[in-house]
Amino acid sequence: MIFLKTDEEIELLRHCNQIVAKTLAEMAKLIKPGITTLELDKRAEEFIRDNGGVPNFLGYSGYPNSICASVNEQVVHGIPSAKVILKEGDIISIDCGVLKNGFNGDSAYTFCVGEVDPEIVNLLRTTKESLYKGIEQACEGKRLGDIGNAIQTYCEDRGYSVVREMVGHGVGRKLHEAPEVPNYGKKGNGIMLKSGMTIAIEPMINLGSRNLVFEKDGWTTRTADRKPSAHFEHSVAVRHGKADILSSFEYIEQVLGEREF
Ligand code: MF3
Ligand code: CO
Repeated sequence: MIFLKTDEEIELLRHCNQIVAKTLAEMAKLIKPGITTLELDKRAEEFIRDNGGVPNFLGYSGYPNSICASVNEQVVHGIPSAKVILKEGDIISIDCGVLKNGFNGDSAYTFCVGEVDPEIVNLLRTTKESLYKGIEQACEGKRLGDIGNAIQTYCEDRGYSVVREMVGHGVGRKLHEAPEVPNYGKKGNGIMLKSGMTIAIEPMINLGSRNLVFEKDGWTTRTADRKPSAHFEHSVAVRHGKADILSSFEYIEQVLGEREF
């Protein structure tokens, strides 16, 4: 069942997603060689609670932390750890969610740790651009397959592969609602998009093959070939003519300044 949101509910979702956006900007300030992903997690939790929110990943199906921190070949759902120390040249996807006023925010960004190989920076750029290609399709009268097709075509045309095992999703009173939002598909396929639908679009794009391995910790997924993977996510409201992006990368971009990622 897909829940359409009222304008008031969409504003509540925007508020949650703005806290997520500012939390990700806090992460941008801290991401440097030498910091551990557990330190990032602690700061994220503190920042979310200081803003009157609750970290909605914490305890979700038993997930142990407030953020997912996925380094290099890790695709998503990397568990923060004192043993994971970031080093120059790494990339790290931080996925973050906030529950407040009964609604859920969800957004992710992939950051560079110091100088990163230009081949990997290109992967990040393409993945981020593909997210916006998908968002362009998230308007009334388009279909779900139009979103996935836009992302898939953009990334595959540039030689990258699209993860299939995990997908975007509806988002609202629950973190994961119907419908599933794949990052692949055929134009004109799937359900018709309606104004008031709220969805998280989250391309997971690999430098090498699309095949994944699920680690024994029950959460972390990584590329089978151990080549890097990138992940960017926005929560958006489907609207007539143009999607309304409820999360934001603007706070991150302010922190990054001249740097791209
Ligand atoms: N944004 C993540 C997703 O949609 C949320 C993960 S919740 C967690 O997959 F508990 F698995 F971390
Ligand atoms: Co999500």
